[in-house]
Amino acid sequence: MNAEPVSAEADIEHPDVILCPGGPMLLRGDHLVQDADGSTHRTERPVSAVCRCGKSSRPPWCDGTHKVIPDRDKP
Ligand code: FES
Repeated sequence: MNAEPVSAEADIEHPDVILCPGGPMLLRGDHLVQDADGSTHRTERPVSAVCRCGKSSRPPWCDGTHKVIPDRDKP
């Protein structure tokens, strides 16, 4: 996979991807997210939360379930 280099104009104060400790990955802006089944989902909000714990009832999006799972099972 080839990643595009971060441009010199990238806003270091407002990253496009934020990994929340023990929780979701936040995506800022428009993205296409491919789930474990290979289906593609387009982000529809200014900031979208992608589940990283695998326990969400509406994958690939975070539904807050990570808040009630044991710390050892959190991402
Ligand atoms: S990260 Fe929030 S439900 Fe999985």
